[in-house]
Amino acid sequence: MNDGTSALADLSPHDPPTSPFEGASPYDAYVRATVLNTLQAPLTEAADEMGFLVTTQVMELWFTLIVHEWRAARDAFTKDDLDSATEALVRSRRALEALNGSWRPIAGLTPAQFDGFRAAFGRASGFQSAMYRHMEFLLGDKSAALLRSHQGEPSVHETLREAYHAPSLYDEVLRFLHRQGLPVPASVHERDVTAPYEADPRVVEAWRRVYAGSQRHPLLPLGELLTDIAELVARWRFDHMMVVRRAMGARTGSAGSSGLAWLQARAARPVFPELWTVRDGL
Ligand code: HEM
Repeated sequence: MNDGTSALADLSPHDPPTSPFEGASPYDAYVRATVLNTLQAPLTEAADEMGFLVTTQVMELWFTLIVHEWRAARDAFTKDDLDSATEALVRSRRALEALNGSWRPIAGLTPAQFDGFRAAFGRASGFQSAMYRHMEFLLGDKSAALLRSHQGEPSVHETLREAYHAPSLYDEVLRFLHRQGLPVPASVHERDVTAPYEADPRVVEAWRRVYAGSQRHPLLPLGELLTDIAELVARWRFDHMMVVRRAMGARTGSAGSSGLAWLQARAARPVFPELWTVRDGL
């Protein structure tokens, strides 16, 4: 029988897979696993803290990948390269699915389990995640106040400042639609991109041209891909609220917000709003 076990047992010490490396293995040189695996430093002996910390770090890595893909998509739209933009958005959709699956290790935390380590991390909160804020800026959810809160970390602040001043992914989608002949008004495609994006009825009309009618519009797959992404972001926010509800009820958050009520208001903000309202009038 040649299963995995016997294949390993058959290896002689001189076979390439088992011969020792000079220094770090090529795997470690590439993946930096030994660095990555030194970054988990729980502050308590509580059994649930390691799962909480690793889940949070894993989500940070997914945020990094999603930002990478959304920036790639945004840059492709500026070149009218719909194929490359679509490929990056599809990759980001898979990353969002993985992100949302990452809630599982902490999805059942009880208040007693959470309180076993909550006091130890003090005022730390995901609210302070610069990479999550970068994601929101790319969605069009700009905030000068939230940018300012990162001023104390110059390198993080600089990256976020650049994202704040640049057009969002959705801004570039709408500029692309305009160049494709759809009626996106100048007040939208030439808007002040540092302001939070506000839904516009004339953009609903532009998407209506894509969604209405019996003939399949060539930009319909793009509309649906963006809707998938908007839905997955909404699902992350909802799952976060469920975890918060189970782990700490309606108590005040560690960053000082009202907690659940504040998160509910944040989660109510639609992503790519006109892609939802366009459905009302079809
Ligand atoms: C037991 C688990 C968790 C609880 C109880 C919790 C609780 C909270 C609360 C109460 C807030 C509101 C701000 C505040 O006052 O602190 C918040 C915000 C936030 N949390 Fe969590 N959280 C949990 C897990 C996570 C994880 C694993 C992440 C992943 C990085 C995360 C990311 C965020 C983000 C990005 C925000 C800001 C949301 C926004 O700006 O709209 N949270 N969290």
